[in-house]
Amino acid sequence: MDAAGAAVGADPVGAALNASSTRPFDRATATRIASAFLPAHPLGNRWDYYYTRTKLGSDPLYPGVLQALRGSQAPLLDLGCGLGLLAHALRLDGQAMAYRGVDNDAAKIGRARKVADRSALADTRFEVVDLTGGPSPHQGSVAILDVLQYLEASTQWTLIDEAIAMLTPGARLVIRTTLGDASRRGRTSRVADRLANLIGWMQSRPRCYPDIDAMRTRLAEAGLRTTFSPLYGNPPFNNWLIVATL
Ligand SMILES: C[S@@+](CC[C@H](N)C(=O)[O-])C[C@H]1O[C@@H](n2cnc3c(N)ncnc32)[C@H](O)[C@@H]1O
Repeated sequence: MDAAGAAVGADPVGAALNASSTRPFDRATATRIASAFLPAHPLGNRWDYYYTRTKLGSDPLYPGVLQALRGSQAPLLDLGCGLGLLAHALRLDGQAMAYRGVDNDAAKIGRARKVADRSALADTRFEVVDLTGGPSPHQGSVAILDVLQYLEASTQWTLIDEAIAMLTPGARLVIRTTLGDASRRGRTSRVADRLANLIGWMQSRPRCYPDIDAMRTRLAEAGLRTTFSPLYGNPPFNNWLIVATL
């Protein structure tokens, strides 16, 4: 990666991030997507609504991922999908590929399923799956967004190899991850991940931050074309978007 933090690597699929895909959603779009997570009852719990609105309005994750997936109709498997925000962002963006989200947090999957049903998101499924046991079979695109650091290094590599094997021509492997380095962003990311676990928002605790050179080598050895781009936005974390294709 270059010193200025610009994207490095050939643009494999015309999915290079542009100015709008490195900015968070505008307030209206963030509120529109988050509104799906409002409780049915006015006195119900609004935590998911406020969390998703804040995340969507401050983190360029989803605009970056939408850009990376545009132009492919391949079914998408979202590994560690959380509340399934990506499914909502995809449909709002007019991307209609089949979507399957999996996560080991059964409570989040229950809420993801309920909200997706209530929002009538077409061709969208959610399942409880623990990635340490390997994902279920899939052919198409794969998203692994802010998940790798919760897995041991050996599980990360197994998962990445399995995701590579799922790719079909034109499909994309889209990974967002915090990279393990000694920068201030790297340190802030580690503290924030630990805190999220301590306050109970994240059931899993961070275990291992991927190494960018090892990741680049693994994807190249698999014969993939890749792009690595910083995807920070407002949060002070060391987040990078990696897009790979056959
Ligand atoms: C930071 S959240 C990211 C959620 C979603 N990918 C997104 O970007 O909005 C990390 C997710 O990984 C899930 N996760 C962590 N360890 C997991 C495992 N072993 N199997 C499945 N999901 C896991 C957590 O439950 C959590 O929902």
